[in-house]
Order: sequence, then C-alpha cells, then structure tokens
Amino acid sequence: MTNSKTAIVVLGAGLGTRMESDLPKVMHPLAGRPMIRHLIETLETLQPTRMTIVVGGDMETVAREVAPYPTVVQKDRLGTGHAVMAAREALADFEGDVLVVYGDTPLLSAETLGRMLDARRSADNPAVVVLGFRPEHPGAYGRLMVDGEGHLQAIVEAKDAGPEQLAVNLCNSGVMAVDGRKLFDLLDRVGNDNAKGEYYLTDIVEIACADGLTCGVVEGGEAELLGINSRADLAQAETMLQDDLRASAMAEGATLVDPSTVFFSADTKLGRDTTVGPYVVFGSGVTVGDNVTILPFCHLQDVTIEQGASVGPYARLRPGARIGADAHIGNFVEIKNASVEAGAKVNHLTYIGDARVGAKANVGAGTITCNYDGFFKDHTDIGAGAFIGSNTSLVAPVKVGDGAITGAGSVIVRDIPADSLALTRGPHRENADWARKFRERRGREKAAKAEKKE
Ligand code: UD1
Ligand code: MG
Repeated sequence: MTNSKTAIVVLGAGLGTRMESDLPKVMHPLAGRPMIRHLIETLETLQPTRMTIVVGGDMETVAREVAPYPTVVQKDRLGTGHAVMAAREALADFEGDVLVVYGDTPLLSAETLGRMLDARRSADNPAVVVLGFRPEHPGAYGRLMVDGEGHLQAIVEAKDAGPEQLAVNLCNSGVMAVDGRKLFDLLDRVGNDNAKGEYYLTDIVEIACADGLTCGVVEGGEAELLGINSRADLAQAETMLQDDLRASAMAEGATLVDPSTVFFSADTKLGRDTTVGPYVVFGSGVTVGDNVTILPFCHLQDVTIEQGASVGPYARLRPGARIGADAHIGNFVEIKNASVEAGAKVNHLTYIGDARVGAKANVGAGTITCNYDGFFKDHTDIGAGAFIGSNTSLVAPVKVGDGAITGAGSVIVRDIPADSLALTRGPHRENADWARKFRERRGREKAAKAEKKE
C-alpha cells in the first residue's frame, strides 16, 4: 500500500457540540489514548507524502498530539468543505490524490483506505471516491445517491433530505479520495444554502458530476466507520476496540479467563502463557513478560512485569512499578515508582513507593514506606534477602541492608546494616492475673451501681 503521491487532510476542527465537553472531540480517549492518535497511526501506514490536520483556533492540545505533522487552523467553523479549504496552502502545488478523513472516525482500517486509493486510480479515473457503508441505523449520516451503473451522483445530508432520500441506506462515512488537481476548483463552488448554513464537503460530488466528471463509491464495514458524535458513540467505539484488543492478546498467546471483563490500553503488551484473571484494567504503558499470572481485580498503569511474576488479586501497580522475574505481589498491595527485584515477595496490605525491594526480600503484611513528608518524596532501599516484619513503617530516606531483619511493628528511621536485626517496638511486659482481677472489679462496680438505682 506504499505510494508516493497521496496527501492526507484530517478534519478535526469541529466543536463536537454533541459531546457536551470542554475537551476537543478528537482528544477524547479510546483505549487510553486520544481518538485522533489511533487515526494518525493508521494513516501513517499509507506513507503519505504530506499529512495536514485541520484544527480549531483553541486546540493546542490537538496540535501537540499530532506533532510532528503540521496543523492548520480553521478559525470559523463553517463546515467540512470550509475546513478542507483551510488546508489549501498546505496542498499548494500538490497534484496527487488527496484523502480527506474525519478525525471523529478513528476505527478506520488501512486496508479500506488502500481500497479507496486504488479506486481513485482505477481506469474510469473518478474525480471523487467516497467511502460508503450501510449502517443498521442510518440516522444523521449523509445519504449516497447512486445511479443504475453504480456511479455516485450526490451526497444528501440527512437534515436536507426528503423521505425518499432518507430511505436510502447507503451512507457517507466521511472519507473521500479526491483528484488533487480538481479538489479546490470544486470546493470554490460549494455554497452554504442548506439546513445547517454550512459549506459541506459532500457537495463537491454533485458539482463534479455537473462538470461531467465521474464519482465512485467504495463500501466499508459499519464497525470501522462509526463516526463519534456523542458519549454514547464513544462508548460503542470503546467496546469494539476492546474486543479487538482482547482478541489480539489471546491470539498472541495470553489466556484471558473472562475476556469481556479485561480492559486494555492500545499499547498493552502481554507475553506468552501469561494469564489474566477477571476484572483487570490495564492503563497505558504496561508491558508484561511471559508466564506471568495476574489474578482478578488488579489495576496497572505504566508498569513493567517480568516473566514468572504473580500479581494480585486486588493489587494496584502505579506508574514506575517494575516487578522482577518470579516476584510475588499479593492482595491489597500498592506499588509506585519502585522496583521489586527478582523473587521478592510483597504479599499483603502494603504500600511500597519510591523504593527498591532487593532480590528475594520478603516484605511482611502491613508494611508502609513513609515516602512523603508533605513536601518531598524520599527513597527507601531494601537490600537483597532482607526480611521486613509485619507492620513495619520505613521512614524514608532509609536503607535496610542485605539480609537484615526488622521486627514486626517497628518504625525504622535509621539505616540498618546488613544482616542486623532492628527492633523499635516497646518492650513486652506482663502482669499475671491482671485481666481476671480487672474484670471482677469492674463487674462488682457495675452491679453496685445497678442496685443503687432500684
Ligand atoms: C459528516 C458528513 C456526513 C457523514 C458523517 C460521517 C458533511 C457535511 N457531512 O457529518 O455526510 O455521514 O460526517 O460521520 O461533511 N469539522 C471541521 N470543521 C467544521 C466542521 C467539521 O473540521 O467546520 C470536522 C469535525 O471535527 C469532524 C468532521 O469534520 O471531525 C465531521 O464533522 P461533523 O460535524 O461530525 O459532521 P457530521 O454531522 O458527522
Ligand atoms: Mg461526525
């Protein structure tokens, strides 16, 4: 699908009014990253000569997201045709094919776009090729008017359509491949005398036909052509994307015990023979090695897990957690910006933040690294083979030497040399029979009080 003469214009200036959001529509995330990024990555596989993204005046976030591709600003949002006009300078002297795609159609496949370009270059040399589809509910999509020979005559927007036109179920996905030598001549003649008072890109079809040029249709599947205009559409796209991500994870050798309950980010990487239990959520930036077990109800983000490790149930691995080979992270454990080295165990009710847990160290239940004093974060270093007793508070910055032991309940504020025991709890005292005598005395006092009342 490589070609040297395709320019791509991505339209992303629309306000996305129906999203009811302060975020530009194309920045809404799908599988953990902005929808426009999904699209850009697909478009890159076509190796276009140029790619320009049309954005609104207040959309620096979009410009940053699509960099290094240039953006042009469409100041007044006067419609999709007007938006393509904003790219006029960026396409000056370009004579190849121009592919126009809408930033709110992020599930497009490279294969379909390839078919569009092939059609544009076919023998009957259509000036415009439109990607059509037959959605179950055509609703607000523009309708494609096709003649008996399959040539496209016009695109009629739903708001401007009469009942007969609305009955047509072949719809406009928004993707167009246009002869670059003709595009701006056609656009110059688009007016705004329509229901929305906008300059519709879709009108170039009728204008081209009036010029005696041919226009064609390529059909694609509904799933990849979903246009996202509302939060409900966004949720539908997320569901479809998640299904794809689950299928690829399994195809690459991971077991998902209940696939429909596992949520991935687009960049999640799972190794072979890794098993993921139900209700696990992968935020962005997670890489998991081979033979790892992730038990139910875990949340992971920006984390690396090496082979053979076991995580969960109910573990939270936050950014910068690095779990070494064969390490065990158990229930209700939170790890942040810390490495737990090979074979170490942090099994119960523990917070490890800004720390290193050395190889084969064992961290007891309820251990907390006290890493933050309200101003600064400090590091805790636990040496290889150390044993941290249950309910130890490690007040950072602090270092536990290799093989050292802390007694349960200790508050550790100083470095501990290798192989030493540190114990900071108060001494164990006993008072023989005290409890029994206490109960008897208090019992008598209570009974005396009750008698007085009567
Ligand atoms: C558009 C099509 C419709 C098609 C549908 C497919 C037109 C006139 N209509 O309708 O035929 O069925 O997409 O999803 O083209 N945009 C700008 N500047 C503007 C207006 C829009 O950049 O002034 C961008 C938006 O950011 C969006 C895209 O163009 O990415 C489409 O705009 P939108 O308002 O969503 O058009 P639809 O009503 O969905
Ligand atoms: Mg739309």
